[in-house]
Amino acid sequence: MTNQVTITVPATSANLGPGFDCLGVALGLYNHVTFTAVPHPSLTIEVTGLDAEKVPTGAKNLVYQSASRLFDRLGQRPSGLHITQENNIPVGSGLGSSSTAVLAGLLGANALVNGQLSQADILTIATAEEGHPDNVAPALLGGLVLGVMEGDQVHIEPLPIAPQQVVIVTPDFELLTHDARAALPTQISRQDAIFNASRLPLLVRALATAAYPQLTLAMQDRLHQPYRLPLIPGMAEAFTAAYAAGAAGVALSGAGPSLIAFAPDKHDQIVAAVTVVFRQHNLGSRSWILPIDTTGTQIRVSQ
Ligand code: HSE
Repeated sequence: MTNQVTITVPATSANLGPGFDCLGVALGLYNHVTFTAVPHPSLTIEVTGLDAEKVPTGAKNLVYQSASRLFDRLGQRPSGLHITQENNIPVGSGLGSSSTAVLAGLLGANALVNGQLSQADILTIATAEEGHPDNVAPALLGGLVLGVMEGDQVHIEPLPIAPQQVVIVTPDFELLTHDARAALPTQISRQDAIFNASRLPLLVRALATAAYPQLTLAMQDRLHQPYRLPLIPGMAEAFTAAYAAGAAGVALSGAGPSLIAFAPDKHDQIVAAVTVVFRQHNLGSRSWILPIDTTGTQIRVSQ
């Protein structure tokens, strides 16, 4: 058995406008989780970094739960476990923090007991745990990834994306993914289906070549954003402010409440403009200007 393994997982931004529940991109912001097998029955979890106080350190910890389910599935587990999480991704912000926990748990457990699960197996299990592939797939592979579901099988299509910086602004507002999904209609009109279906390929092509002039049209969406923006104070205005400050494409990151903006330049100005809007709505915010991650999840066995 391996004694210690560290899993590094990038943040992700899902949907990117019209790619609801199928498209996501990995970003250069990382959570690190180290698993140490200990020879006596015990569980200790230590969490440091951003939003550490929001992460449970007992049996409800998502990394542990995910690892524990995999140990059960593999029929093998270490006697005891020490987990340390060093977090840089805000929790519950639409930047894939729960996907980092699920993937770290699965990959850490798999490595500790030499579980021999393939990347495809891990992706299938992680997608089932998350309910959709648009965060876990890019978090695992890096870059821009399309996830196509057929039943419970995930077909993964890595797509080209030009190296670039993106703006993320996260207002201090709690929006549970469950509530953001509950706000969506179960049926949509043919016009809305065509609206999104026509923009998604345009988006994929524009991101591949950083064709910024096309992004404004390509990032429009009618499947989820019209229902979710009103749930977040100032978000509709924040979109307008980001465009006015120079953004070429703006989207709600995942189920929110973060905003992601693509632009050739003026990233600082976009951050400033969006921050002012949230402040006008009595919300603080955090912001990042991040590169696209192209490495995906890294596994480092240290003992
Ligand atoms: N595609 C998902 C959603 C991402 O928008 O609800 C959230 O995890």
